Amino acid sequence: MKSFRKIGVLTSGGDAPGMNAAVRAVARTAIGYGVEVMGIYSGYEGLIYGDVRPFGVRDVSNIVNHGGTMLYSARAPQFKTEEGMKAAIETCRRNNIDGIVAIGGDGTFRGATDLSSRGIPCIGLPATIDNDITATDYTIGFDTAMNTAVDMIDRLRDTCESHARCNVVEVMGRDAGDITLQVGIAVGATAAIVPEIKPDTDALIEKIKASRTLGKRNFIIVVAEGLGGDFGEELTRRIEAETGVESRFARLAHVLRGGMPTLRDRLLASRMGEFAVDELMNGRSDEVICNINNEIAAVDIQYALILDRMYKKTLKDGDLDAFSKEQISEMQAACARRLAYIESLYRTVNRLGL
Ligand code: F6P
Repeated sequence: MKSFRKIGVLTSGGDAPGMNAAVRAVARTAIGYGVEVMGIYSGYEGLIYGDVRPFGVRDVSNIVNHGGTMLYSARAPQFKTEEGMKAAIETCRRNNIDGIVAIGGDGTFRGATDLSSRGIPCIGLPATIDNDITATDYTIGFDTAMNTAVDMIDRLRDTCESHARCNVVEVMGRDAGDITLQVGIAVGATAAIVPEIKPDTDALIEKIKASRTLGKRNFIIVVAEGLGGDFGEELTRRIEAETGVESRFARLAHVLRGGMPTLRDRLLASRMGEFAVDELMNGRSDEVICNINNEIAAVDIQYALILDRMYKKTLKDGDLDAFSKEQISEMQAACARRLAYIESLYRTVNRLGL
């Protein structure tokens, strides 16, 4: 067991519902070990500018059910500079912070590895609505964002049914189609279109025409923001022009990032936060806490970052040099499994949306 004087906790990058539950879990678990806790405000910016405050047990009361992040969040480009990094380390030294739990997405994890390479052990917790961290089956915030989208789209369906319209709805997810596909199935969409799979919009037009002929009044098409540009608006215009079905476009955007976290996100955040502190206390560092086959498990941060690049096809020369043959084939298998899952969701939404 490693001895800590204080650990810090921060949230960084895009906020996600459930971040507060994670902060609470980290603070309460550390306090349970007799370790002091500092809240670091506005992500890595708080470390650079020394915006840190001590947290007692009651400082994290009544937040498990709140959206957003009470620690605030920011993207801090200065953190990537040598000067910014020096200031961050200095804040840690001055405040006796000798371990950090960093809650966020891949940018957050890169910051965490920079800190640990300078002697501050860090553990990452995956929190993003996008569910685009390949090493984990689920990220904190994903479930709430999907439930919010389902609620919004159910409302759109009501008005579409009244007016016999089509609504194309764009949901967030950065380059990943996870939200789009699961929400598409849950709202009974006619189709869901994602960046991972080449869309066949001609077939979709024919499907809408055929269903309209058979009396279908409302059509919901869920599209992922990762398709880029004005894909959704263009598709809306095309559907109206080529099928004669009056069509509207809606972009749900940041509304998916807010609101009360679901039970599932609170549970995931609480279990991951607790696990992260246990790992730190056991002398571990440079790990991302993941949810794999419904178990909470730790994955090496570098492994997780490179696995992500492999899945997103953004590997750079030399990225795989540090890994064994077995690890590389393990990564390839994980990527193949993830893509197969996306493809199976895509098949489901399109087969059922008649
Ligand atoms: O990563 C979360 C996310 O909401 C993505 O879905 C989206 O692409 C991006 O962040 C939006 O970023 P910003 O908050 O900077 O507008």
